[in-house]
Amino acid sequence: MTKDNVEPSARVAMVGAGQLARMTYQAAIDYGVDLHVLASSVSDPAVVGGASYSIGNYEHYLDLVMVSKFGQVVTFDHELVPPSHLQSLEEAGFQLRPSPKALAFAQDKLHARRQLKNFEHINVSVPEFIPVFSVEDITRFATNHGWPVILKARGGGYDGRGVHVLNNSGDANRFVFDTTNSSEPAWVLEEHLELAAEFAIIIARRPSGDLVSYPPIGTRQEGGMCQEVTMPAELPDEVTSEAIRLAKEIVIGIGATGICAIEFFWTTDGRLLLNELALRPHNSGHGTIEACVTSQFHQHLRAILDWPLGSTELISPAATVNIIGGPFEVNLVDRLPAALSVADAHIHLYAKKSRPGRKLGHVTALGPSVEQALETARATARMFKL
Ligand SMILES: Nc1ncnc2c1ncn2[C@@H]1O[C@H](COP(=O)(O)OP(=O)(O)O)[C@@H](O)[C@H]1O
Ligand SMILES: [Mg+2]
Repeated sequence: MTKDNVEPSARVAMVGAGQLARMTYQAAIDYGVDLHVLASSVSDPAVVGGASYSIGNYEHYLDLVMVSKFGQVVTFDHELVPPSHLQSLEEAGFQLRPSPKALAFAQDKLHARRQLKNFEHINVSVPEFIPVFSVEDITRFATNHGWPVILKARGGGYDGRGVHVLNNSGDANRFVFDTTNSSEPAWVLEEHLELAAEFAIIIARRPSGDLVSYPPIGTRQEGGMCQEVTMPAELPDEVTSEAIRLAKEIVIGIGATGICAIEFFWTTDGRLLLNELALRPHNSGHGTIEACVTSQFHQHLRAILDWPLGSTELISPAATVNIIGGPFEVNLVDRLPAALSVADAHIHLYAKKSRPGRKLGHVTALGPSVEQALETARATARMFKL
């Protein structure tokens, strides 16, 4: 169906229609951008939010072509598109932002670890790691580094899915390793770190090279899933400035465009280590909607369209708390009126049905201090729980 009398400022195709696509669509409305998403069903958050859409499967090349035709650029709300399809789309002439080459750093933890070790001019450290071919690899590594160790799926994981803490060789024996294709292991093993803090540096980069960074964002994970976010992260100045330097160098080094979130570990023994990369708007950045001059979603559109980037200045200390489905279904709508009465709290619901462990929304609160913002955001998010 063609649209008459419509003149969007730009056309963007987005693979995926989850909450990141939904919030990107909100920003697209502001800029007059026509955002067209590839959704798995009409219940996907971006579709429910009103974005134009095609229904398809991101694992099917022809579905990717179908959605890509809607955009002058193609972007992503997740990292699950098979790399060979990304390659084919690029060869077919579609403008992928970020490029398949850059996306590989977010799709494949082993690739990212190996490659970044080779970026010698950057001098970035990553946790000690090995590719895993067998249970013996795990026990040998643990003999050197001590238990527990962390076993990670090389790709396809998010929110801690694919990340396993192994406390002993018995835990390791629960996994079966396929040795038929020994050059391509499916798992990475790394040292278990004592973390003083986890944080993310969000960068936006245009294809023409311009880039900006947001203030450091503190994250707190439970079971691998991000629960709470604070802005700015409370870190020594030298840790922040080194992390921003590294994040910029990495983004430039891998040639990423759009929003890139670089996740860092800061260990209790004072090491700054790169954890992983996400080349899309990131859960840690939701607070930028209210707390920064330019939200990560507006910035992502600006960056992938090669438009001037906006200010990343922090307007106020802020905290974001995710609303995550618990064991019992809660009708969020029933809780909304009370939550709306909290001053300084900004509520975002993704119109998803409640399921245990599912991100259903988030609350961002601004405050005179990070602590007070966090208290407000926590209290408001709690209203959506049983
Ligand atoms: N080597 C490690 N030591 C300690 N905790 C870790 C380690 N690796 C991951 N984690 C914890 O698990 C979380 C999820 O791991 P991550 O590699 O970021 O996977 P995902 O792709 O699911 O986000 C991290 O945010 C951190 O809290
Ligand atoms: Mg992570």
